[in-house]
Amino acid sequence: MSEQNQWIMGIETSCDETAVAIVKNGKEIVSNIVSSQIESHKRFGGVVPEIASRHHVEQMTIVIEEAMKEADITFSDLTAIAVTEGPGLVGALLVGVNAAKALAFAHNIPLVGVHHIAGHIYANRLLTEMKFPLLSLVVSGGHTELVYMKEHGHFEVIGETRDDAAGEAYDKVARTLNLPYPGGPHIDRLAQLGEPTIPLPRAWLEEDSYDFSFSGLKSAVINTVHNAEQRGEKIEPEALAASFQQSVIDVLVTKAAKAAKAYKVKQVLLAGGVAANKGLRAALQETFEPLDEIELVIPPLSLCTDNAAMIAAAGSIYYEKGIRSQLNLNANPGLDISIHNS
Ligand code: KG4
Ligand code: ZN
Repeated sequence: MSEQNQWIMGIETSCDETAVAIVKNGKEIVSNIVSSQIESHKRFGGVVPEIASRHHVEQMTIVIEEAMKEADITFSDLTAIAVTEGPGLVGALLVGVNAAKALAFAHNIPLVGVHHIAGHIYANRLLTEMKFPLLSLVVSGGHTELVYMKEHGHFEVIGETRDDAAGEAYDKVARTLNLPYPGGPHIDRLAQLGEPTIPLPRAWLEEDSYDFSFSGLKSAVINTVHNAEQRGEKIEPEALAASFQQSVIDVLVTKAAKAAKAYKVKQVLLAGGVAANKGLRAALQETFEPLDEIELVIPPLSLCTDNAAMIAAAGSIYYEKGIRSQLNLNANPGLDISIHNS
C-alpha cells in the first residue's frame, strides 16, 4: 500500500444507524456499511434510546469487520480512526466512541473525535471539491442549521432552529397522519400527490434572522386535523402533506438563498437526512440554478442520511488540521461544532 495514501476509518453511532466506513484520501469511499435499526424503533413511533444502544453493541464489531473486509485493508494500513463524539444520544454515541478507542489503543492508531453535523456537511466532499466560502443548509432529525464555512474545518452557525428540527416536525406531522416512523419520506411521497391548498403559517422570525422555527407549523397541522375530526370532516392527507411541505421548503429555501447572497458564498451544500426530500431538492435547484456565481451541491440519498463515510471525510480534514483525541475521549451529546475553529 502506498505511503502517501491516507486511510481513515469512520465510525458513527449517534442515533439509530450503526455505521463504519473506510475513506481514502478524504474523498474516495472504499467501503461504507450501514446497519439500520429503523425496524426495531418503528413500533414505538420514534427512536428508543435504550434499544438504540443495545443494537449498536450487537452490531458494532460485525459492521467493523464488514467495512474492513470490503476495503481489503488491515488495521496497520489505517492512518486514523474518526468517530462521532456528539451530538446525539449519549448511550448510542458511547458505543462508537468506545469501539474507536479500543481499536486506536490496540493498534496504536491516532483517534479523531468528529462532530456529527460536520460529518453531514463533509458528505459533500465525497462528491466534489468544496469551494470556500460556502454555506451549508443542514436539515436532519435533530438539527436545522445554516453553517457558514470560510475554510476547511471552520464552522460558523449563522442560523438554527429555535424549537423543532425540520426532520422532527416531519416525523411528528407524519405521526398525526398515522404514518410509520420515520415519517419524512412518507410525507414527501404524499406531498408529490397533492396540492398545497391548506393555508399554514410560515415562521419568518425577525427580518435579519437566519433562525428557524417549526413548532408553530407543526401545531397548526395538528390543530387542522383535530378541528376537521371534530366537525366530522375528512382532510385529504395528500393536500395536508403538500401544504406542510410547501411551508417548510419556503422558509428553508428563502433563508438559505438570502444567507448565500449576503455572505457571498461560492457553494451551497445540502446536508442531513431531510436533504433526501424531493420537494426540497427541486426547490433548491430552481432557486440556485439561475445564479451563476453559486454552485449548488446535493448529495445522493445514501450520503444524506446517517453514514460513516461522512464521518471519515470530516475526520480526514480534522486529522490534516492536527486535531487528535486522547484515549479519555467521551461522548458529548451537546458538542459545539465550532470547537476546533482556529
Ligand atoms: O440525518 P438523519 O439521518 O439523522 C439525524 O441525524 O437526525 O435524519 C433523519 C431525518 C428523519 O427525521 C427523517 O424523517 C428525515 O430525516 N427524512 C426526510 C426524508 N428522508 C428522511 N424528511 C423529509 N423528506 C424525506 N424524503
Ligand atoms: Zn444525522
